[in-house]
Amino acid sequence: MSGALVVSGLHAGYGQSRVLQGVGFELAAGQIVAVLGRNGSGRSTLARALMGLVPARGSVRWRGQELLGRPPHAIARLGVAYVPESRDVFPRLSVAQNLALGLQPGAGRPQRWTPEWVFDSFPALAARRHVAAGVLSGGEQQMLSLCRALMGAPQLLIVDEPTEGLAPQVVAQVDALLRELRDQGLAVLLIEQKLDLSLAVADRLAVMGHGRLVFEGSANALTGSRDVVREWLEV
Ligand SMILES: Nc1ncnc2c1ncn2[C@@H]1O[C@H](COP(=O)(O)OP(=O)(O)OP(=O)(O)O)[C@@H](O)[C@H]1O
Ligand SMILES: [Mg+2]
Repeated sequence: MSGALVVSGLHAGYGQSRVLQGVGFELAAGQIVAVLGRNGSGRSTLARALMGLVPARGSVRWRGQELLGRPPHAIARLGVAYVPESRDVFPRLSVAQNLALGLQPGAGRPQRWTPEWVFDSFPALAARRHVAAGVLSGGEQQMLSLCRALMGAPQLLIVDEPTEGLAPQVVAQVDALLRELRDQGLAVLLIEQKLDLSLAVADRLAVMGHGRLVFEGSANALTGSRDVVREWLEV
C-alpha cells in the first residue's frame, strides 16, 4: 500500500536528547491511525516532527512531497492541520474570531467545514460564538480547537490527545467528529492514551515505546497481543 502519508526512518529530538529513533508507518486518505503509548514515549514529538516543529531527519512524504525541511506554515499550506495537546485557542478572541482565523484566505477549494457548519453541528459553540474562547470549558475549547483546524480544509489532520480530561459525553462528540472526518476522506493521525477509544475508532493502531513503534496492526491484532498491551500500554 502506498499511503497518502509515508513516514520512514524518522529521527527527531531536542538538542542532545534523541527521542524518535527510526519511526516508519503509512496513513492513507479515509483512514484513522491511532498512535498509542505511555507518557514520554515520544508520541507528541512524532506529531511535532511531522509538522516541522522539531528538527528531524528521515523522510515524511505527504502526497508524494517531502515535508521534512519545510517550515510549519508551508506544511499547513499542503493541507496538513495539527491540533496540539495544549488546545491552542486564542483565549481573548471570541469563538467566531477563532474560527475566522482558521480560514485560509483565497483558498479556492470548495469548503465543507465552515463556521456555519460548526455552529450547526455544535450548539454549545453556537450559543457562545461571541464569548471569549478562554472562558469556555475544556471540552468546548477542544471542539473549537479541532474545528478551527478544519477551517483550513486539511486533508491530513494530526490531533494530539483530543479527549484528555474530557467528560464522556464530550469524548463521544470528538469520537463522532473523527469518524465523520475519516468518512469524508481525511487522513487522521490520532495520538491517544485511551486504548478503548482507539480500538473503537482507529482503522489501524501503532504503539510507541521509547521512540520506536513496537507494534502496528489492526484492533484485533492488538487485543490479541497481550504481551504488547501489558508491556507497552498498561500502567
Ligand atoms: N521541549 C522539549 N525539550 C526537551 N525534551 C522534551 C521536550 N518535549 C518532550 N521532551 C522529552 O521527549 C520525550 C518524549 O516526549 P513526548 O512529549 O513526545 O511524549 P508523549 O508520548 O507525547 O507523552 P505525554 O504526552 O504523555 O507526555 C520525553 O522524554 C520528554 O521529556
Ligand atoms: Mg504527548
